[in-house]
Amino acid sequence: MPLMDTIRARRSIRSYKPDPVPQEKLDIILEAAHLAPSWKNQQCWRFIVIKDEAKRRAITTRDWTADAPVIVVGCAHPALSGGNAGQSYYMLDMGIAMEHMVLAAAEQGLGTCWIGGQFDEATVKAELGVPDDARVVALLPIGYPAEAPGPKDRKPMDEFVSHEKW
Ligand SMILES: Cc1cc2nc3c(=O)[nH]c(=O)nc-3n(C[C@H](O)[C@H](O)[C@H](O)COP(=O)(O)O)c2cc1C
Repeated sequence: MPLMDTIRARRSIRSYKPDPVPQEKLDIILEAAHLAPSWKNQQCWRFIVIKDEAKRRAITTRDWTADAPVIVVGCAHPALSGGNAGQSYYMLDMGIAMEHMVLAAAEQGLGTCWIGGQFDEATVKAELGVPDDARVVALLPIGYPAEAPGPKDRKPMDEFVSHEKW
């Protein structure tokens, strides 16, 4: 599928079928993260693939997130990434790699939803043995969609794009 078609078709999915994600599709999704750009190519991330249902339920605070047959837990080593003018790039590195996965999943007919808020970092760390110096940035449930939401509203382009000045 052309990239723009995938970008236009992607939605955040909050209801999943229990059908397993084929390993070859998961491999492509993880390859997409592997190929993401990062600060000085430091690849500060660690992606923990969770299929075990009890673990899925233990690391999220919402049932629908745990209903997805796979959750990729996106962790970062902030010290491996850099920054500029007080802005830390590890979150940017993670955002790019996670979104690579989101789009690779969408291209293969799989749903995802960025989860930035529906987990407790200390609980996830304890459950999965994440070291103290790493951060849990986001969860990414992956599975076949059990819903087909329409597009969310977006601000008009002229509200956030300007030319030659702010
Ligand atoms: C960094 C980030 C964190 C998010 N966290 C959550 C979350 O915790 N729970 C949730 O249901 N959606 C979450 N979302 C999804 C957004 O709500 C969603 O992308 C937005 O409403 C636009 O809808 P769309 O993705 O279907 O276009 C998050 C998205 C981003 C980029």
